[in-house]
Amino acid sequence: MVAVAILAAGRGTRMKSSVPKVLHSLGGRSLVERVLFSLEEIKPERIFLIVGYQGEEVAETLRSRYEHMEMDASLEFVTQSQQLGTGHAVQQVIPHLQDFDGDLLVLNGDVPLLRPGTLKDLLTTHQEQRNTATLLTANLSNPKGYGRVFCGTNNVVTQIVEHRDCTTAQRQNRRVNAGVYCFRWGELSTILPQLEANNDQQEYYLTDVITMMQPVMAVDVEDPQEILGINDRKQLATAYEILQARIKDHWMMEGVTMLDPGSITIDDSVILEPDTVIEPQTHLRGNTIVRSGSQVGPGSLIENSEIGANSRILTSVISDSQIGAGSRIGPYAHLRGHAQVGANCRVGNFVELKNATLGDRTNVAHLSYLGDATLGQHVNVGAGTITANYDGEKKHHTTIGDRTKTGSNSVLVAPITIGADVTIAAGSTVTEDVDSDALVIARSRQVVKPRWRLNQS
Ligand code: UD1
Ligand code: CA
Repeated sequence: MVAVAILAAGRGTRMKSSVPKVLHSLGGRSLVERVLFSLEEIKPERIFLIVGYQGEEVAETLRSRYEHMEMDASLEFVTQSQQLGTGHAVQQVIPHLQDFDGDLLVLNGDVPLLRPGTLKDLLTTHQEQRNTATLLTANLSNPKGYGRVFCGTNNVVTQIVEHRDCTTAQRQNRRVNAGVYCFRWGELSTILPQLEANNDQQEYYLTDVITMMQPVMAVDVEDPQEILGINDRKQLATAYEILQARIKDHWMMEGVTMLDPGSITIDDSVILEPDTVIEPQTHLRGNTIVRSGSQVGPGSLIENSEIGANSRILTSVISDSQIGAGSRIGPYAHLRGHAQVGANCRVGNFVELKNATLGDRTNVAHLSYLGDATLGQHVNVGAGTITANYDGEKKHHTTIGDRTKTGSNSVLVAPITIGADVTIAAGSTVTEDVDSDALVIARSRQVVKPRWRLNQS
């Protein structure tokens, strides 16, 4: 049986932020959410989240996110009202695990890059070797800030000393504590109450239990990047770089071409099909999917959207929208609010679509705003066509039938329904519904007065 305690009560002073550290976002997910994801292969019986600083907010944010994670155990929040150290934080679960006879996995809420396999291996080693405690360590070229792990023979840990409590000689040790531990709960629960706060910070350090336990084993992580702890914004940026490299390497191995990957960012919730090409300065976020054969960028931002197969997106911003196969978007198009573009459409320069549906083969090539509109197939929207959807109070809908052509600079005042095969003359302001197969001219006639010149004094 395995229970997990995630330490997330600290404020994170070094972040210099009003937001609790563990809620800071790393590639679209909070730090602590990422820690929860790293439990994927463990299937714990119980999961405790130790909260304190802005605990309600942390709990609230996580509760809603946790529903979408496929975990069997429910998330139990335990409050540590005063943040007296990592050892004190773990003491808070004692009343909740009175009769528990298994292992407790303790994780720091600010270590977001752990791979699920790493935790699984650590736990397996811990159980197979029958250790009292097993902790994850790494050899870092720059160990500054981490607790140093001192071992005897066979990786048996003798002591962990925090960076600030180390002597100059001790600081030479590059083996650091990752903040990831497996404990036999029976032993840990009797030792925890004996902790003392004899250190530079006057805190109860979890790391001090190690000297009171036997045997404790250190296991080196294969990839030291996984154990990066986030204490300040520089480390947050470093973590983001590592995460991005992982995500992009993955997709390139899956058959995605990236031009200048360093300038591209991709959330780990994004899905890319083989033979897509992602061009420089392109950012893919949230639940975005790009289907096979499409080319996105350069210079595009796609959020929570689906790009159909063989489409081409150039220098555009697309959010919460869907693009059908073989369509061309941009340059400089903005699609938002559930825009739905059919197959083989063209949405061109300086066109904004909001909550607009375009049937297949419909073109909106230049300088248009279509908001709250439903367009049929093969419609041609002339340059500068605008749906006037807002009357100052409410939004209204525009409907346009198949094969209709709107002239340049038409204004369609909603609510309005234009039938199929309609032609609207350039410069028209259309305020009334139009039946199919009609020509609409809604503008004043041109007046020309020959041989006329302004009298200038
Ligand atoms: C800790 C370890 C250090 C290790 C490093 C790895 C201790 C004493 N030190 O140091 O050996 O190398 O992590 O990243 O454990 N927290 C609480 N309640 C508290 C204090 C902290 O819940 O009273 C939480 C924090 O929110 C954070 C985590 O525990 O998520 C770690 O605390 P932090 O202060 O960042 O510890 P480090 O100094 O990084
Ligand atoms: Ca830390």
